[in-house]
Amino acid sequence: MIHKFIKGTNPNRPTLLLLHGTGGDENDLIPVGKMIDQEANLLTVRGEVIENGMPRFFRRLAPGVFDEQDLMYRTSQLHDFIDQASKTYDFDRGDVIAVGYSNGANIAANMLMQIPYSLRGAILMHPMLPRKDDQIPELKNTSILITAGNNDPIVPLESTKALKEALNRHGANVSLSWFKFGHKLSSEEIQVIIKWYQQSLVDHTKHLN
Ligand code: MLT
Repeated sequence: MIHKFIKGTNPNRPTLLLLHGTGGDENDLIPVGKMIDQEANLLTVRGEVIENGMPRFFRRLAPGVFDEQDLMYRTSQLHDFIDQASKTYDFDRGDVIAVGYSNGANIAANMLMQIPYSLRGAILMHPMLPRKDDQIPELKNTSILITAGNNDPIVPLESTKALKEALNRHGANVSLSWFKFGHKLSSEEIQVIIKWYQQSLVDHTKHLN
């Protein structure tokens, strides 16, 4: 997959897996990744599906209606890519945090729902429930932040809530924060993400040595 790996300066920090929205590419979320953790590794990937010239991570049949077979196939492919990248770039595969926006948040949510131990945590910005499934793996010790718009024209409120409930039901620690800027990422949202990340995902005990 087309990607960039930016090595972090602190080996105790996780690897942030950056997943862009529809029409974006691997460069989009680098500034956000650096704001979240300037010392972490960044692995940023471009979606391989092209819809009217716009890269995405999986096919959709209509806005908000996903090709579930393709979603599951692309999710496994992305998962395999992370496994491979952890060997190529020598990072801890067990310490990967997805940071996804919109379509990228949806494939990250689906990875949590489809593949056990795929991610240690996730920051899902404006996601929806990617598919209905009760066969979700155990998600104990998985920390997830969902940020959403309470007036998002693309993501219905019910879909955000259904995603939170599905992840919670299977043991994940899920926080949900609402904003009022539609489908857009706001600086207010980034500040909430940074605070949550520092409180929930940075293991302070590691820094005592
Ligand atoms: C999707 O297709 O994943 C969602 O509708 C969000 C988007 O527009 O990319």
